[in-house]
Amino acid sequence: MSTRPLDPEAVRSEFPALDQAVHGHPLVYLDNAATSQKPVAVLDAIDAYYRADNANVHRGIHELSRRATESYEGARRAVAHWIGAPRPEEIVFTRGTTEALNLVAYAWGLDHVGPGDEILLSIQDHHSNLVPWQLLARRVGATLRYIELDEQGRWVLDDLDALVGERTRIVSVSHVSNALGTVNPVVDLVAEVRRRSDALVVVDGAQAVPHLPVDVSAIGCDLYAFSGHKMCGPTGIGCLWGRTEVLEAMEPFQGGGEMISIVEREGSTWAALPHKFEAGTPNIAGAVGLGAAVEWLSGVDRSAILEHERALTAYTMERLREMGGIRVFGPERVEERSGVVSFTMEGTHPHDIATILDTHGVAVRAGHHCAQLVMQRYGTSATARASFYLYNTHDDVDRLIHALQAVRAIFG
Ligand code: ALA
Repeated sequence: MSTRPLDPEAVRSEFPALDQAVHGHPLVYLDNAATSQKPVAVLDAIDAYYRADNANVHRGIHELSRRATESYEGARRAVAHWIGAPRPEEIVFTRGTTEALNLVAYAWGLDHVGPGDEILLSIQDHHSNLVPWQLLARRVGATLRYIELDEQGRWVLDDLDALVGERTRIVSVSHVSNALGTVNPVVDLVAEVRRRSDALVVVDGAQAVPHLPVDVSAIGCDLYAFSGHKMCGPTGIGCLWGRTEVLEAMEPFQGGGEMISIVEREGSTWAALPHKFEAGTPNIAGAVGLGAAVEWLSGVDRSAILEHERALTAYTMERLREMGGIRVFGPERVEERSGVVSFTMEGTHPHDIATILDTHGVAVRAGHHCAQLVMQRYGTSATARASFYLYNTHDDVDRLIHALQAVRAIFG
């Protein structure tokens, strides 16, 4: 499929939710790290599926089931191609990144991690890439180790020998930080881990796949998780990619229909990949929507999305610096960031910032962003966070700054 140059103004006209007034102002949507808006192509695909093709997949030998199955498996093929997965069977549909990471923690972790073993995480990680491993460690008696962060929100990898060794069974880290926007050197880390251990390497790509070119084969990890709703797709659908040997070696996560081969009184055998991990009726419409999102995004130059978000990030950081009294978190160099700008304003709570911005029609997130270890590292309980996507413009940033000036006027 040929790609078109990125034209944010043209692109935004394809997103109906962006074309509305909020509290009397045209909406400026800057909460894309939480979830993105959806283009007409995705809304239409979901609508058309339910109107014409709705049936259960794999079960019925009838026309609608055949169509539903073809759409569902077509979405799997599209996703596999999108992230450089060698085989569509290596894509497991899940509810999202959280379920994908929990799947690995339970289905791989319970069988391969024992007392005294170590799990390496980073304090930069989202709770969905911390808590499942904490639950696993508590159950099996494993120890959690953490990669620390420097002042700019980057991994400190000076002493990897102290963090990774023969006791390390799992390394699970984010590709891009949701709270800071740091783009992490995952390729280098995977190579360094491989030199020191045979640990399973898992990457949380929730904030990466929507924004930058991702090739799971080139990263060299074992498993890679991401969500559909942050990349123009619907909520409730996401993916776990895994190398065939790794997925084959794992027990199922949930039991039920569709994931078995033979069921007998004393036990069962499992269906082939990926169905072994997809018990019950899946989120078929969600997969159809995700497939449509991938197809729509495939029409836009992916590197241009990242460049555009970085230009907006650089402009925002510059304007915030001009305002003064603002602390911006994360890397100073925009080349080390995605389109996320987390900040605090002297004398003003982030929730107050977000509430007042909302009255100006500007949507941002405030809070700990499900990354409390990041907040602890930088001595704050919360930040305000503006996060961009391909439809945001410099004008949106100007509106953000204008509204922040109003916040400043109120709180002095
Ligand atoms: N993980 C999403 C965020 O960072 C919800 O906002």
